[in-house]
Amino acid sequence: MSTTATLRPPVPGSGRKGYDVRKVRGDFPILSRRVYGKPLVYFDNAATTQKPRAVMDAVRALYEKSYANIHRGVHSLSVESSEAYEKAREKMRDFLHAGDAREIVFVRGTTEGINLVAQTYGRANVRAGDEILISALEHHSNIVPWQILCEEKGARLQIAPINERGEIRLEELERRLSKKTKIVAVSHVSNALGTVNPVKRIIALAHARGVPVLVDGAQAAPRLAVDVRDLDCDFYTFSGHKMYGPSGVGILYGKAEHLETMPPYQGGGDMISSVTFEKTTYNILPYKFEAGTPNIAGAIGLGVAVDYMRSLGIENIEAHESDLLSYATGRLSAIPGLRVIGTAREKAAVLSFTLEGVHPHDVGTVLDREGVAVRTGHHCAQPVMDFFKIPATSRASFALYNTREEVDVLAAGLGKVVEMFRP
Ligand SMILES: Cc1ncc(COP(=O)(O)O)c(C=O)c1O
Repeated sequence: MSTTATLRPPVPGSGRKGYDVRKVRGDFPILSRRVYGKPLVYFDNAATTQKPRAVMDAVRALYEKSYANIHRGVHSLSVESSEAYEKAREKMRDFLHAGDAREIVFVRGTTEGINLVAQTYGRANVRAGDEILISALEHHSNIVPWQILCEEKGARLQIAPINERGEIRLEELERRLSKKTKIVAVSHVSNALGTVNPVKRIIALAHARGVPVLVDGAQAAPRLAVDVRDLDCDFYTFSGHKMYGPSGVGILYGKAEHLETMPPYQGGGDMISSVTFEKTTYNILPYKFEAGTPNIAGAIGLGVAVDYMRSLGIENIEAHESDLLSYATGRLSAIPGLRVIGTAREKAAVLSFTLEGVHPHDVGTVLDREGVAVRTGHHCAQPVMDFFKIPATSRASFALYNTREEVDVLAAGLGKVVEMFRP
């Protein structure tokens, strides 16, 4: 079984490695299917990405050859599954440049990672009158868990506003940091607009006041090199399914000093060291936060997804998507009535837009007939839509396997939409 993607040799004299996107597309079986008789153009990658054969092979191989429950049996299959699961944890540690595998907790995804921190660190540290600071760019997953906590504790949610480009206004964020602030929670990359937030700077501002920071990395981990020690974030969380891995698995990184003192999230098997009816003692890190049988195949598949991304080079993926973003921004901006929503100076892989006089759902439906999959709606970021005074956008989001030719198909499809809905 090969876990590496097809690499293109360095372009002579360019000094830059690249990869051959045509060969890479061959690693993703679904990309060769047709929709309404047209070749699939999959631009809904911010919602979830497609999977390379290597990930599917790894999951299949586990079930065919080694599968058993982990950490529990002395028999060979259990030992093999446990080793593969822990090897995946070590890959995730290395991917994030974390110092210690004890700081890597397997969760269901970003949503669970944020809820875990809100319900453990948050519950233990937030009191009535305290504040939690988020930004106006957040996905509902990084809003609602904090609202639940605020309601329970009598605390207040503070919001750092954004500007017309869709960038967090840093001076306003700083102004909202106070002695009452108990945690800052901010996305690394916005799923609705693609804004890359200056999280390192935000973390430094918060730390200068002793406030810990959680980073929602759902849209960053698939495309940016993440170094949690360089960022100095307290928590970092993301989902496997958005980075070529299986669904139902993700990562919460937490500094050991926090994880050690936090109460457990859920009770059950594996998270205990001993149980009597009088007293239960909890397991060591990271198992204290992994109650019950985890997504074993998902974790192993995620490890292979990271191998795959690294075989292409994270910086090459970033460069490839950045090229697609600027090409698509140029092509789509030329379409009459099309308005790009989100024009941040630092942007990644996401192109949100409205088309004058056409509801985004109509845009999505017409494009689907052309084989083009885009997302339409509020993208689980209703406050962002409210800020721009629109109900919804159409969103094309790019991945390592997309091409400029596919962007041309999108542009042609949008041309048809304009023709169809011309008054
Ligand atoms: C920025 C951001 N945060 C959180 C989430 C939630 O991720 P999941 O549904 O995988 O838990 C998403 C998903 O779209 C996202 O884009």
